[in-house]
Amino acid sequence: MVLEAIRYKPGSLQILNQLKLPHQEEYDEIRSAEDGWHAIKEMRTRGAPAIAIVAALALAVELQCTTLSDNAEEVRAFILEKLQYLVTSRPTAVNLADASRKLQKVVSNAAKQGGGDGKAVVKAYCDAAAQMLIDDVSDNRAIGKYGAEWITRTAAEGKVSVLTHCNTGSLATAGYGTALGVIRSLHGHGQLKRAFCTETRPYNQGSRLTAFELVHDKIPATLITDSMASALLKSQGPEERIAAIVVGADRVAANGDTANKIGTYQLAVTARFHGVKFLVAAPRTTIDLQTPSGVEIEIEERAGKEMTFVKGPRFDGVDLDVSRVETVSIAATGIDVWNPAFDVTPAELIDGIITEVGVVEKEPDGKFDLTFAMEAHN
Ligand code: MRU
Repeated sequence: MVLEAIRYKPGSLQILNQLKLPHQEEYDEIRSAEDGWHAIKEMRTRGAPAIAIVAALALAVELQCTTLSDNAEEVRAFILEKLQYLVTSRPTAVNLADASRKLQKVVSNAAKQGGGDGKAVVKAYCDAAAQMLIDDVSDNRAIGKYGAEWITRTAAEGKVSVLTHCNTGSLATAGYGTALGVIRSLHGHGQLKRAFCTETRPYNQGSRLTAFELVHDKIPATLITDSMASALLKSQGPEERIAAIVVGADRVAANGDTANKIGTYQLAVTARFHGVKFLVAAPRTTIDLQTPSGVEIEIEERAGKEMTFVKGPRFDGVDLDVSRVETVSIAATGIDVWNPAFDVTPAELIDGIITEVGVVEKEPDGKFDLTFAMEAHN
């Protein structure tokens, strides 16, 4: 069975509620842009590509199920307002803003060309939103292939072990995944010894989502806490020798600086210290040439309680009772908390950026030139 985070057909959108994973698999119905906004904000759906697609499709479903004006200009204004609202749900991942910008263009063109017909504008919007779902899966498959080829070409051994962070798989995208797509591709070609995944504190996307996907796909995998990464890179055990760390991205700035889940930066530092390759896997929708460097990327700060409490099914000493989810405090009451959801890894620490059109490596001057990869995009 293929893991599906997003189920869409015209008039219906369902998302797998990721707050309930890995213990319960429940789909939430999304009927409007407002439902989509809340699902993203509350992290029931997450991951840079997935939130962009859920936002786009949430509005598509609302348009399909609402009686709108016949006037193209009024429909265009309605859609633009909803898109602006959706973009406010989470700030760091650029995919959402990128999708909104592209959809605004589609809608404005359709309003101009459609002879004043509101229905033509809705159709153009919904077709473009549905296409994003399709394109993301094929982009991820290409990322998986390029990334796997790059790692096996540069590795000392035939079969490799890799380390990943956060969740970048089918649950964070429209399907297959970015960094996890690279792991899927390595495994599919018999080139993977073992995948290691971090727990990814504080929200545990690694232990709850990535581990769930790895177990689901029967990929040989081991979970570590974030604090074990350096010890793993130092280890020379036959399975523990790490050929590369491969992570996803929420926004890649024009100079290659990369915002990704908190904890990514420290992995890049330790990778450089241990002489391990550090790769970012991301579709071009995540590359933001308008943002010159990581300094300009807004880092979302989330509620302290995401760090001081954990949620899970009740454990009766023998079994987990998944019907009884409990929230448990794991920190001293009253402690101040700093909870940035992302950090920025400087381009200097990144060896390659794996996109759907190939792996971008540094130029002879030691800098990334992402303009080439972005040609013909947009
Ligand atoms: O806060 P989240 O769970 O939305 O963060 C997800 C990540 O940071 C992922 O690593 C990133 O979006 C890459 S998605 C393919």
